[in-house]
Amino acid sequence: MDTSEFIQFAKATIDYVADYTDNVRSRNVLPDVEPGYLSKLLPKEAPQKSEKWQEVLKDVEKYIMPGVTHWSSPYFHAYFPSGNSFPSLVADIVSSAIGCIGFSWIASPACTELEVITCNWLGQMLGLPSEFLNSSNGTGGGIIQGSASECTFICLLAAKERTVRRMKQLHPELDEDRIRAKLVAYTSNQSNSSVEKAGILGSMPMRLLSVDDKCSLRGETLKKAMQDDMEKGLIPCYVVATLGTTSTCAFDNMDEIGLICKEYDMWLHVDAAYAGR
Ligand SMILES: Cc1ncc(COP(=O)(O)O)c(C=O)c1O
Repeated sequence: MDTSEFIQFAKATIDYVADYTDNVRSRNVLPDVEPGYLSKLLPKEAPQKSEKWQEVLKDVEKYIMPGVTHWSSPYFHAYFPSGNSFPSLVADIVSSAIGCIGFSWIASPACTELEVITCNWLGQMLGLPSEFLNSSNGTGGGIIQGSASECTFICLLAAKERTVRRMKQLHPELDEDRIRAKLVAYTSNQSNSSVEKAGILGSMPMRLLSVDDKCSLRGETLKKAMQDDMEKGLIPCYVVATLGTTSTCAFDNMDEIGLICKEYDMWLHVDAAYAGR
């Protein structure tokens, strides 16, 4: 595909996307297809000959769209916002064209710096205290992960490392692997399944604690579970509180939980993937 063909293809695709967005409400939200529908429609092996882009675009409408669940339809009541606004779509084109891999600052300075600056903007918009923001002399600052599940998992790993370092400072004689084997995490039994999965992936027992009559995790439940664990010689390390649980949109009691995490120097991760967007 040469540049002039690319321009034609991209313009036609933008027209297609604009039409899709304007008329998504006229499509059935849920597709009327059976599992395996697509393999009956597509070739068994990758085609040897290329097709004109006009044909490819037609195939999208003919074969792909019938199997799409239209998450952005106003009739989809499990609505979950994602980056599909017009500015976001255009930004994706630019980002794809640049195609940089942000391994490190030098891998693409603008990539790293834009992430830091815009995360700070978001922190300021949310009214976060300055400790949460990136600055040259603090430990704050946000980074963008691909999904909420990934955030919970990455934070568990970071909490583990932080606790190991803290325990080593307090008790230099302790072996790092022995410390790791004693770490415990806590969340409510209403939290998203990805939280339990983070515990499995990160080899840290995740206690699924009971909630009150509003499906909210309370401080005293957390404290009791931690104390039971500490009596067994275990080390409380990581807490995941949810603001807006997936099944009932319940809010854990942050005032109570936050104070306990502060008192016991535990990492508190807040999962607001659903209600916080
Ligand atoms: C509260 C909550 N946490 C985590 C997740 C997982 O989100 P993701 O698919 O971005 O990993 C969800 C998804 O519904 C959610 O509602």
